[in-house]
Amino acid sequence: MSDTPAFNPALIQLPPEPHAAVITEFGLQGGHVGPSEVESPWVPFGDSAAIRHLSFDVRTGSVANILWVKGGGRIGTHRHRGAVSAVTLEGSWGYYEYDWIARPGSFVHETPGTAHTLYSDDPQGMKAMFWINGAIEFFDNAGQLTDTFDVFWFINHYVSHCRAHGLPINKALFL
Ligand SMILES: [Fe+2]
Repeated sequence: MSDTPAFNPALIQLPPEPHAAVITEFGLQGGHVGPSEVESPWVPFGDSAAIRHLSFDVRTGSVANILWVKGGGRIGTHRHRGAVSAVTLEGSWGYYEYDWIARPGSFVHETPGTAHTLYSDDPQGMKAMFWINGAIEFFDNAGQLTDTFDVFWFINHYVSHCRAHGLPINKALFL
């Protein structure tokens, strides 16, 4: 038997805050997006991938989502204009241009100006959570710019899917 008293969350006291009134007046609450498809569905992205959108911040031009690439799938050559970071959740993946392979628990960071081509040869495909800042430019095999994905592209990807399928638009995704 331990003589440590049971922990009572009701007794937690938040630390003193000199700007509490300003935070109450001007601050924003954080949020929670649960795992269900009602809160955020998988939205198809090409023939072999899907995106589960988690947040859109139109002030900073940043988004968070889970990218799912099915086995044998790839994401076309793209260049980043802002910093990106990712944690791999399932499967494995890499970029043809680099020699590492990301597996569950892997952390990847990508820097503005870099360009690369994502693949997943894993039979299980891959799932990774991405935090994306700024735009991503996509190119065809001839090096011609084909698409620019910014925060509004991601919002449109989510909203147009919801509207086409009669799904509610989750305001909790918009920071
Ligand atoms: Fe990338």
